[in-house]
Amino acid sequence: MFMKILVIGSGGREHAMVWKLARSERVEKIYAAPGNGGTAQGSEGSQTFEGSQVSGFAGSQGSFGNQGSAGGPEWENVDLFGRDPAEEEIQEALIRYVAKEGIDLTVVGPEAPLAAGIADRFRGAGLAVVGPGAAAARLESSKAYAKSFMEKYGVRTARYLAHSDPAEALAAVRTHFDSAPSAGKNAPAPPAPPPLVIKADGLAAGKGVVIAGDLRTAEETVAAFMRDGSLGGAGKNIVLEEFLQGPEVSVLAAVSAAPGRKGVILPFVSARDHKRRFDRDRGPNTGGMGAIAPAPGFTAALERDFEEAILAPTLRGMEAEGFDYRGFIFFGLLLQNGGCYLLEYNVRLGDPETQAVLPLMDSDFAELCAAIESGALADFHLAWKPGAVCAPVAVAAGYPGEYRRGDPIAFNEAAFAKTTALCFTAGAIRGAGGPEGSGLRTAGGRVLTVSAYGADGAEARARAYRALEAVRFEGMDYRRDIGEIS
Ligand code: AMP
Ligand code: GLY
Repeated sequence: MFMKILVIGSGGREHAMVWKLARSERVEKIYAAPGNGGTAQGSEGSQTFEGSQVSGFAGSQGSFGNQGSAGGPEWENVDLFGRDPAEEEIQEALIRYVAKEGIDLTVVGPEAPLAAGIADRFRGAGLAVVGPGAAAARLESSKAYAKSFMEKYGVRTARYLAHSDPAEALAAVRTHFDSAPSAGKNAPAPPAPPPLVIKADGLAAGKGVVIAGDLRTAEETVAAFMRDGSLGGAGKNIVLEEFLQGPEVSVLAAVSAAPGRKGVILPFVSARDHKRRFDRDRGPNTGGMGAIAPAPGFTAALERDFEEAILAPTLRGMEAEGFDYRGFIFFGLLLQNGGCYLLEYNVRLGDPETQAVLPLMDSDFAELCAAIESGALADFHLAWKPGAVCAPVAVAAGYPGEYRRGDPIAFNEAAFAKTTALCFTAGAIRGAGGPEGSGLRTAGGRVLTVSAYGADGAEARARAYRALEAVRFEGMDYRRDIGEIS
């Protein structure tokens, strides 16, 4: 069967999904809603990761990319909406569009529409969709709910307290930072208490976690989140959490769990994101400055530990709660004392992890999505290429604060092709690109991700950074240390 597939979202993650879907022989056409400059109109040909012809800014009609052989699927962006419609209106319009176009399967990229119930609406309308319903999406949209789920089913995580009352939260913060009473004038100072992790309960676009090293910062954070509404409703309730220390690993996975059926979680190759803005993990948190897959240091022993201490109890919990969870899950892990701790669930694939992981997938992504939806995931064999992918993100000047936009993106196609890298766009829209332009200009903070394959991390890194030299826009910057072992 040839499928028409709709991908919802507009980031680099969604561009990578469109690219991977376009490589499936089972796909006839791909729609991206709303998509970005790179997912706009194009068709897929014979490009391979290993070959010299790569998808470049896939979909743009410039002088590069996508001149592959005829016969592959086409893709296009779907923009159904005027300015700032309500989420519910968007979802209803998408349902009408999917029915009208005869789209067979919809894959939801970001968390916000999932938390707002898009999967429930689609299923209610009899449409096939990959994404959990709103009840299960609370694993991401409420940190307090996620922590209670972890506790209930014995998923290994940091200790925590949930608070809905600011006075009680402030009292708990003071208790934490209260150092032991001094034994006398000449007694040695007691050791400083460890930092306290303060998390807003709701979705806060990466701004909802503060690691407070002292009482004052902790008090100010609690007051800002709970009393002053600095994050809107997201900070009304908070979680106070034990501080853990160690490298982080992201494990993305396919999930198919539905009431009355045995559930399945199929983990992907591991990845590591780099969330801080500057090299050596300095500077403010961002949406993610680059990823490498597999994650260095995630040994077979740690993988087993993850499956036993985190994946298995999560699946048990999904079954016991009677979730209809047909979609993707993201386990945000921290490695400490030789074991894995779960910092967070996301109910979607990660960005930029997806741009590093999907190019390593040797299975048909459209078939995987269909198996998630139909419940046939237990029989699905997920295969991976050996080697590694390094995927640094190029950002606009000013990001993650106010950033430049509207600059033409220049692209040296010949130089880029030599590196065998892929380019996945995010904050880029179609627009005048100048003489050596890509036909795109910048429109977001994270502009694009370059994903390069190598036999190992070092080769992938070298190719990714060479490929980035072939891309240029005013104020472009990126981290130079993506995938280095810190
Ligand atoms: P989260 O959204 O919960 O993943 O938190 C965002 C980031 O905050 C994580 O990627 C970690 O870097 C950090 N973080 C979260 N929880 C903890 C914790 N308990 N201990 C140390 N760092 C944490
Ligand atoms: N890369 C982190 C995220 O997708 O949330």
